[in-house]
Amino acid sequence: MVQAAVYDRHYDAKAKAAGVMQFFTPARGIVRDTITTLISINRIVTSIDRVYVTLTWVGSATNSLSQLGLFTLVGGLLGHVVSSIKVDWVTVIAGIALYLGYRLAETVISAAIGLRAKSFELALWNLMEERILGKLASLDLGRLLDPSFMELQRLARYRGAGAAARLWQSERSLIGAVVALGAGSVVLLSLDPIIGILALFTAAPMIGRDWFIEAKRRLFDEAETLTYRKKYEVENALVAPRTGLRSRLWQLNNKYQSYFRELVAEVRNNALVIARFDRRWNLTIGLVEVAMLAVMCSYFASGLVEGSYTYLQLGAIGGSLSLLVTGMHRFGSSLTELENARRDYDYLARMLETKPLVDETHAQDIELSDTPVLKIENLTFSYPSTDIPVLENCSVEIASGEKVALVGRNGAGKTTLLRLIAKIYVPAGGSIWIDGHEIRSVRQQSWLNHLLMATQELELPGMELARSLTGSVSDNIDTDRMKRALVYSGADEIVAVLPQGMRTWIGEQWPSGRGFSTGQLQRLALAGAFYRFLDPKMFVGIFDEPMANCDVETRARFYQAIGKAAEFSRKTILMSLHDPLYLHHFDRVLFIDGGRVAQDLRGQEAIASYRNHIAMALAGDL
Ligand SMILES: Nc1ncnc2c1ncn2[C@@H]1O[C@H](COP(=O)(O)OP(=O)(O)O)[C@@H](O)[C@H]1O
Ligand SMILES: [Mg+2]
Repeated sequence: MVQAAVYDRHYDAKAKAAGVMQFFTPARGIVRDTITTLISINRIVTSIDRVYVTLTWVGSATNSLSQLGLFTLVGGLLGHVVSSIKVDWVTVIAGIALYLGYRLAETVISAAIGLRAKSFELALWNLMEERILGKLASLDLGRLLDPSFMELQRLARYRGAGAAARLWQSERSLIGAVVALGAGSVVLLSLDPIIGILALFTAAPMIGRDWFIEAKRRLFDEAETLTYRKKYEVENALVAPRTGLRSRLWQLNNKYQSYFRELVAEVRNNALVIARFDRRWNLTIGLVEVAMLAVMCSYFASGLVEGSYTYLQLGAIGGSLSLLVTGMHRFGSSLTELENARRDYDYLARMLETKPLVDETHAQDIELSDTPVLKIENLTFSYPSTDIPVLENCSVEIASGEKVALVGRNGAGKTTLLRLIAKIYVPAGGSIWIDGHEIRSVRQQSWLNHLLMATQELELPGMELARSLTGSVSDNIDTDRMKRALVYSGADEIVAVLPQGMRTWIGEQWPSGRGFSTGQLQRLALAGAFYRFLDPKMFVGIFDEPMANCDVETRARFYQAIGKAAEFSRKTILMSLHDPLYLHHFDRVLFIDGGRVAQDLRGQEAIASYRNHIAMALAGDL
């Protein structure tokens, strides 16, 4: 409500200050933006099928003109019949033949073009999806994790993808409207300049109104988008599986519902402001139009009475007048459609223009030794969306093959440090050296060839289990490696009881799919991480609180494997965890606090005493 009220005032103030100039400035902006968008759309559609696109443009224009042709034809035939007062076969046949010829051509062309139109439509849709996926795949992880970009890409995917097709449709319809208006005016002007000028004076304010309304509507756009976004969030809170469950369990439904009603009222309010605006202008312009029509009709009537038009001329005048009227209406509606589609397309365009957060233009592929040393020097970092430093002068050196635990309070910066090591973000100050290469000069993809990162957010896509874990179907995976991965992650017992084993589909939504508990899913996801980590090229493994949802038994097995299994003895492991019980499985414990490594504990003795210290503190709390 508050939002709408602000916009209301904003609008009123603007309306009061509005002069002729205010009308032109936003309208000019619309024209410019529309042209830019249309150029970009035309580039896309002509790249798919240039011939088809040209044909549809011609078709759209011809369709408009056919109305004029029909009127003139009828007028001409009528004139001929009336002047000779006899219906002869030649005239009738000529008229019918002309009309049938036109219909035949129309039928044949639309049949011939139908299939091509479908393939064009599919190709366009496909192209837009490919672009979106390609763009998202090319962006770095840091950008994908950027909250404002997440929102933009959501809008681009849900609203922008279909907008290209709609833009193209409205462009076609706009071409038809412009041709109708143009042809109507030219014919009228040449037949009877006075009636032509009168018609133009009638048409111009109506077209002006459409531009004007669109320009004004933009003022409400932002408010509207924001309200819809809020509405979507509340809808989710009410009906999406997880948030919906919470709302029911905590009896928040009623409160959320009344918030929802508030937002609906906000949408309504906004729409009404626009409608009031429309009403005022529709009325004003409508009155002008009626007055102009009255003048035009009287002039036309006087011509009729005086008999100064031939039947052919009458037909043509009627045709072009009707062309002008339909043209005006089509122009207005296609303009609105065009503007709506353009707004949606804008999300897509902005998404496609987004630059990666990490500039990799000067980065290169690296070949690592199988015993890489990680050196972290005076790291300083804050997230792009904030200025609050998360890391400050953080330094540490990690030898190859070391098993390092990261501990510290929530929000201390453990995840951030691990992300920086994986080059998901680039530090603002300081350096990370991977085997002597400064991380900024290393292409992230080549670093990921040797680095495994398993994050807190491990989530399995609902596919066949083997494909979900490894990307390949079960016939193509390394069975032995998978067996070991399942053992280390404690997922072997989950898979053992599945009748279809690695061929099982994840998720009960599939015909013979299986549901799993959160802890089970985490273990399965971890099996996928281990499968990759067991690849001999993988020298460094990063695990960010991987066991948060698992039972004690699974945890014990997991940490034991990490600490003792020969397969991991040469691999470097960095892991953040909260459970002090398992710290003795590590060679080293880093306590992160105040944006840096506050304590660096090496050797079993130091780690054991730290562990006891924490255990005592916890016991004191109980
Ligand atoms: N994407 C992000 N944008 C802005 N701030 C973030 C983001 N992710 C984390 N932070 C902030 O950075 C700080 C450190 O977070 P994090 O590294 O996740 O801590 P930890 O893993 O130790 O719990 C926190 O204050 C958190 O709010
Ligand atoms: Mg964390």
